Amino acid sequence: MTILPIITAPDPRLKLIAKPVAAVTDEIRRFLDDMLETMYASEGIGLAAVQVGDLRRLVVMDIAQRDGGREPRYFVNPEVVWQSEEENVYLEGCLSLPGQFADVVRPKTVKVKYLDYDGKPQQIDADELLATCIQHEIDHLNGVVFVDHISQVKRDIILRKLKKEKRLAAAD
Ligand code: NI
Repeated sequence: MTILPIITAPDPRLKLIAKPVAAVTDEIRRFLDDMLETMYASEGIGLAAVQVGDLRRLVVMDIAQRDGGREPRYFVNPEVVWQSEEENVYLEGCLSLPGQFADVVRPKTVKVKYLDYDGKPQQIDADELLATCIQHEIDHLNGVVFVDHISQVKRDIILRKLKKEKRLAAAD
């Protein structure tokens, strides 16, 4: 398996919109495996293909990994088909915005339909952290990152910090 380089903000590639895949092939499964390995290597709980420069609607997640467990999930062409009016606030972070966190308000519960690792159509009811995480990842497929949900003042502060870090890293 391969650890893929993760694109960090600000980067125009994180604003691109991913395209649905027609079917889950062996090549896609291998790529999902690489994405999962990449996510684990960075201790993330979710990763969208867009974040590694691939414009297909592919997501891997493992919210159990926060507590040291392993419960990998794969979502191909995920789509929110219902969302609750009730909302929830989570302190979100992102592998593409390293070291940055902000409170984000999202629907508390969502129904998501998708294809699984074997290409079978599935639907889940996601609540709490699982709901937040899948919405965060679907956002990536639509060129949206979590700071797009917060005030412009807070967003600018975070993006300025990341820009500065990139400049320092490039100067090394
Ligand atoms: Ni993210």
